Parts: sequence; C-alpha cells; structure tokens
Amino acid sequence: MSGEPADRPAGGGPAEGRVTVGGSREGSGPVRGLSHVAIAVEDADSLAAAFVAGLGATRGAEELLDGGALRVLFVHLGPVTFELLEPRSPEHTVARFLASRGPGLHHVSLEVADLAAALARCRDAGLRLVDETPRAGAHGTQVAFLHPKSLGGVLVELSQAPEP
Ligand code: CO
Repeated sequence: MSGEPADRPAGGGPAEGRVTVGGSREGSGPVRGLSHVAIAVEDADSLAAAFVAGLGATRGAEELLDGGALRVLFVHLGPVTFELLEPRSPEHTVARFLASRGPGLHHVSLEVADLAAALARCRDAGLRLVDETPRAGAHGTQVAFLHPKSLGGVLVELSQAPEP
C-alpha cells in the first residue's frame, strides 16, 4: 500500500515524485479489499504477543480448522488483520511449509463478493488455481487459493464473507 492520503482532491495530479503510467487505482475487478495477511508460525501465541506489545494489536478470534490440524489466530491492528497459522499436525501443508521455509508470509487474502465468479474469471484468464471450487475457511468464510506460480510467487487467497 502507498501512503496516499484518502482525502486527495478529485482530479488532483499524481503525488510529488511519483510516476503514474496509465491505469486507475480502483480497477474494475471483483476485489473489495484486503481481508488479511497470513503468517505461518510455530507458536501463534508468542507472535500475537509481539504484535500486541509492539504495535498495540488486539487479539481476535481463534479457531481450529482442517479437522484440528491447523490453529488459526487473528490479530487486528486498526484496518489491518493478520492471520497467524499454527499447524497442529506435521502432515498439514502449513507444517510442511514451515519445515521447508521456516516461519514467514504464507498468503495474502483478498475479499471478493462473489467467489465463484472471481474464481471463474481467474481460470478464464489462465491463472493456475489451487482450489477449483470454493471451500470452507475461518469464521464461515468461503475461500479458494490461487497458485503462487501465477502471481509472482505469492499464494493468494480469495475470500467471501458469510451471508449476514
Ligand atoms: Co487466510
């Protein structure tokens, strides 16, 4: 994210020192916002404590997913949410991620209103999908992952909020 102020006057030129070449920041795609950034970690509690102590984060909800093989703990920092992924089984993909790469960025989650449509659009555009169809994520969300090979090495999760 850039630090562009939200109250920049309409029709104003590009910020000083920035070169803008075409395009608009809004885009026309299905993404509504950043849902969260996920970090794979051995000990979610100590990482959460670091976010709380250092950055004033608030500990959010936690949940066991994938039949108890993955503990998910959210921390909130104003508009920013981190999802801490702590595997509880050595067979889980996050455990294998930790074993091969160590702790670090696991995925970036983008919020979409219509996950099935967004997934179809990605497929039509030739992106590699990890999930061909939506599946259950944390807190009643539906999620699907896009393959990092198609997106600059970053695993991207598309997330649709549950019906209110
Ligand atoms: Co996620």
